[in-house]
Amino acid sequence: MRTDAAPTPTRLADYTPYNFEISETRFDFRLDPKATRVRSLLKMKRTGPGPLVLDGEAIDLVSVEIDGRQLKRSEYRLTQDKLILEETPDVFTLNIESKCNPSANTTLMGLYVSGGRFCTQCEAEGFRRITYFPDRPDVMSVFTVLIDADKTAYPTLLANGNKIEEGDIDGGRHYAVWHDPFLKPCYLFALVAGEFDLLEDSFTTMSGRSIPLEIFVDPGDAPKAAYAMDSLIRAMAWDERAFGREYDLDRFMIVAVRDFNFGAMENKGLNIFNSSLLLADAETATDMNFERIESVVAHEYFHNWTGNRITCRDWFQLCLKEGFTVFRDQEFSADQRGAAVQRIKDVRALRARQFAEDNGPLAHPVRPTEYLKIDNFYTATIYEKGAELIRMLKAWLGEDMFRKGSDIYFDRLDGTAATIEQFLACFETASGEDMGQFMRWYEQAGTPRLTVRRRRTPTKPVISQVVSFKQVTPPTPGQPKKAAVLIPIRWQAIGENGPLMEPQLTVMTTKSTDVSYPRFDEPHSISVLQGFSAPVILNSDATTADLVRLMGNDPDAFNRWEAGQTLARRLLVDFAKALEAGKMPKTNPALRDYCKALGTTLNDPQFDNAFKALVLTSPSSMEVLMEAAPIDPIAVHEAGQWLSRAVADALRDDLLVTYKAMRDKTGVFSPDAEAAGRRALKSRCLALLSARFDPLAASLASNQLDNATNMTDELAALITLSRLGGQRVESSMEAFFAKWKDQPLVLDKWFSVQSMRDHADGIHAITRLAETPSYERNNPNRVRALVGGFSMGNTKLFHKLDGSGYRFFADQVLDMDSRNPSVAARLLGAFEIWRKLDPRRQALVQAELDRIIAAKPSKNVLEIAERTRG
Ligand code: ARG
Ligand code: ZN
Repeated sequence: MRTDAAPTPTRLADYTPYNFEISETRFDFRLDPKATRVRSLLKMKRTGPGPLVLDGEAIDLVSVEIDGRQLKRSEYRLTQDKLILEETPDVFTLNIESKCNPSANTTLMGLYVSGGRFCTQCEAEGFRRITYFPDRPDVMSVFTVLIDADKTAYPTLLANGNKIEEGDIDGGRHYAVWHDPFLKPCYLFALVAGEFDLLEDSFTTMSGRSIPLEIFVDPGDAPKAAYAMDSLIRAMAWDERAFGREYDLDRFMIVAVRDFNFGAMENKGLNIFNSSLLLADAETATDMNFERIESVVAHEYFHNWTGNRITCRDWFQLCLKEGFTVFRDQEFSADQRGAAVQRIKDVRALRARQFAEDNGPLAHPVRPTEYLKIDNFYTATIYEKGAELIRMLKAWLGEDMFRKGSDIYFDRLDGTAATIEQFLACFETASGEDMGQFMRWYEQAGTPRLTVRRRRTPTKPVISQVVSFKQVTPPTPGQPKKAAVLIPIRWQAIGENGPLMEPQLTVMTTKSTDVSYPRFDEPHSISVLQGFSAPVILNSDATTADLVRLMGNDPDAFNRWEAGQTLARRLLVDFAKALEAGKMPKTNPALRDYCKALGTTLNDPQFDNAFKALVLTSPSSMEVLMEAAPIDPIAVHEAGQWLSRAVADALRDDLLVTYKAMRDKTGVFSPDAEAAGRRALKSRCLALLSARFDPLAASLASNQLDNATNMTDELAALITLSRLGGQRVESSMEAFFAKWKDQPLVLDKWFSVQSMRDHADGIHAITRLAETPSYERNNPNRVRALVGGFSMGNTKLFHKLDGSGYRFFADQVLDMDSRNPSVAARLLGAFEIWRKLDPRRQALVQAELDRIIAAKPSKNVLEIAERTRG
């Protein structure tokens, strides 16, 4: 949809309740790929003055009836996106008939066709593309849905809730009627029709109800849904244990589709998943895929309480369901796979994505106050920072108060569309603590900087020492002034042989605070923000000696890892600046200490392999870019390679021994955390060894590729070869393609590896990839693999100084925008870092943003382009 006049934003301050209630909703779908007919029957009751306004977009209205009387054309108004009835009775039945064209729907919002199957995606505002309805989360109703379709082409007919009727009709058609007894807003509506294979299992809930579990997949894929099923059963049990939440409907269904804008969707009783987050087996999926499947299956299931039973009053409250649900899935993964490793991975992702967002032009509060397109606010800030806020709430109030507060929440707000204020009030009731200051976390954008300094008290004799904390949040777009936030700081003094005191919790509520602790005679360091107790950027006066001590002795595993990261980050910033200035980075004592400490961790049998792999992974380029900005991004990238090479030189023998020791000897693949940890460490050793560009790494990688029996090993080897370059790459890429060309999810991996290579003929190679027949321009997974992989993972070609990378990328975004605005806008996020780049590149990106804006893109892309441009 093209826009001319400047679109008006939606504002939180303008919220007003809807002026009607819908006590009952019935939909009748006559499915046809080109012309689907939808009839609705809505039992309406007026609750406030004003016209009846319904949303509708890209659909054709056939008729409107009130209490059985068809309205004349003069009795309603129809605009581009609204159906308006100026006058209605107070209580009445509304019947609407409309038509839509699912096969022409490339936006993948509303009702569309994927691989010959009908499916829907309604969150946030997709339902209006199905029929006229109040498309807002605070209008909740009980839905009954009849689906009628050709029986041969669409043998399976699904919607939310329980199936109450089915049968055949004339003309080779059949029908099914589904009823969902729970109140829900239309964004949780789902409909699926097509031919599927079914994987079945069951779960017995804590009250003894047996729930059939059904996963619907493309014919032939059922075995690949086994891990998702296993994850689902574990998630259901965990939610009962950890939050006392039991499943409510008579059955639970998941459907996998190949064309999907997002990861997955929590439609009541009928989750719909991007197949990339559902299907896995050893040969075609990596350990990271398994891990993501486990967490997303859990995430969508957990939404049944945090999202569906209690939903959001308006889309500004999105973090109410997303922040809490991400927190819940993180806790689940921590329970299943180990808390320290999970926390480290979550924080790495937070830093690479959310910190980048919060410190750039797209920064926005966890609860925003205005938007053009709500689709643009499914962000790392709302999801991941939103989850951090829940985690802080728990750290501050303590485990028991937190659980008490969440029990009150589930009890008090069940069946409602709620706000953040109502959520926090439950924790206020539980704990008696005032939530006023905590609320600032939801209202203020930006990442607080927390400075820590140690000093001695001036009094003599010295009987205590002091740690002083200072917080400051830098300005963000539209928010020049920031107030102090409540920061729970976990800290502890650590000596040569471990902790010298119990872990402390300081709840900081002012701009600065001093905390004293007893004098210790032995040298010691302060471990601050243990477990990453708050989403802040820490600026500490820890010396290299402090950090090395913490790497070896901190009882908090997260901070043992963090100490190594801090050392590495300092080195990387120095290296990047040197490289940018055209100088070679120099070895220095800090680098030697860092490598030595890595070696100590690597060889310490008390640490698990997954943890070691993470310690051996240095901070992402994004973190370094943010700290060293403005800077040449290629210098940042090369600094990373330079550090890897230094580590590999120092630890070559240890890395080789570990690589060999981690090889699988059982011959049986297991996706569990232990086995995945071994593979992660093995891949990490291989990647580091390859940084030396010696023949050893190439031969290890070649062997690994030839002998791999699982995708984790196969892909790690392929990536290593693709970084090493040389003759082996082309033939390996071709062989991989030939082997996997019929497996779309593996082919996505091939495109993403290709998109990140430093091809000899530069952007031409990437352009050719976009022109190959197997590149599906309408499929979001494929586009994300190529265009997303290129913009986020190909530093050299994306940031090439002739501007060819940025130009190609902007062309692709515009091309995608003509079919799928929501995915296009999301891709465009790659430009959010532009102000961190050197001045020449800033000018190049600016020109591309201007070109995108001048092309009159969709509202989605326009909003991101304009905010990014600033
Ligand atoms: N609620 C879904 C989830 O997080 C995501 C829906 C995405 N929708 C969107 N418009 N971005 O589980
Ligand atoms: Zn979610």
